[in-house]
Amino acid sequence: METETLDQDKTLRRSEERSKELEAQIAKDPSAFRLLTGDRPTGRLHIGHYFGSLTNRVRLQNLGIETFLIVADYQVIYDRDGVDGLKDNVINMLADYLAAGIDPHRTVIFTHSAVTALNQLLLPFLALVTDAELRRNPTVKDELATLNRPMSGLMLTFPVHQAADILFCKANLVPVGKDQLPHIEQTRVIARRFDERYGRVDPSRPVFPQADALLSRSGTILGLDGQKMSKSRGNTIELGMTADQTAKLLKRAVTDSDRRITFDPENRPEVSNLVNIAALCLGRDPEGVAAEIGDGGGGGLKQLATAAVNDHLAEHRARRAELVANPDHLWQVLRDGNERANEVAEATLAEVRQAMSMDY
Ligand code: TRP
Repeated sequence: METETLDQDKTLRRSEERSKELEAQIAKDPSAFRLLTGDRPTGRLHIGHYFGSLTNRVRLQNLGIETFLIVADYQVIYDRDGVDGLKDNVINMLADYLAAGIDPHRTVIFTHSAVTALNQLLLPFLALVTDAELRRNPTVKDELATLNRPMSGLMLTFPVHQAADILFCKANLVPVGKDQLPHIEQTRVIARRFDERYGRVDPSRPVFPQADALLSRSGTILGLDGQKMSKSRGNTIELGMTADQTAKLLKRAVTDSDRRITFDPENRPEVSNLVNIAALCLGRDPEGVAAEIGDGGGGGLKQLATAAVNDHLAEHRARRAELVANPDHLWQVLRDGNERANEVAEATLAEVRQAMSMDY
């Protein structure tokens, strides 16, 4: 157990270093990259997604990197029965993507369920991994530990499917949080083994590139109770909430009895989390924000945080409301993205068939 944690620490530090190198390379030559990342549509996007990933994706897209954004609908079903609210989650996700500045003319937005050739990559990929490898995946193990049900075959193998998400478009840049690092490593292993076993179509390069994780720079945002953000706890500020709903939610946020507000994530996680959220919204450093509240206590902190969040999200919310009011447009954006993703996936699958002598 202990060596496992040490290994994970080492992987994280290595990825942080690598992310710095990648940022430098991106600044020099964004055209050397193809980016793929995405979300499981299990609920609504919230402020953690906004600062942790959405704004970063928009930044990278605007630097000119070719971007693919996956709404990973098949990943919804690996740990639950049925598809409650799926369509609603998907359309709300599309609205949040566009409202945040994802531009469908520059970014391919798609659902993997609509891309047959992507899913077919799962078969050759499964032959490249062992069940022991899959059972060792720390993220899958952690998720299983919080579930009150047996592991499904899809849950055991979804990191391989995620490799197909990444490799169908030959992405080499995958912006993710640290919990996704084991899946990116699995993707690299699959790409390498495919090359070793089946060789190349173009002798100058392997069929699949080595994808790199790009870790997001903003730290983790916690739920309003200081716990991990989760829909079932009702501790998240969803992007689609009204200003009033946001204010009510923040009123219930956990703080402590020390009236002097400080930024001290180690010893005062809940208070510091609110300070951090406010600081992110204001574009200021958290120490300065804490000092400004001073002896204002939890009440002063919540008041400031509520105003900061509602001001910062006002434009996003107005845009998303307009978008949600016109679902036909959003579904058309998805259909166009799916069409483009299918073209890319078909081309990759043709190459895979050729490498595997299955091009009859
Ligand atoms: N598993 C990711 C998550 O839970 C979502 C996802 C699916 C993804 N396919 C991907 C992320 C490919 C990056 C690349 O957030």
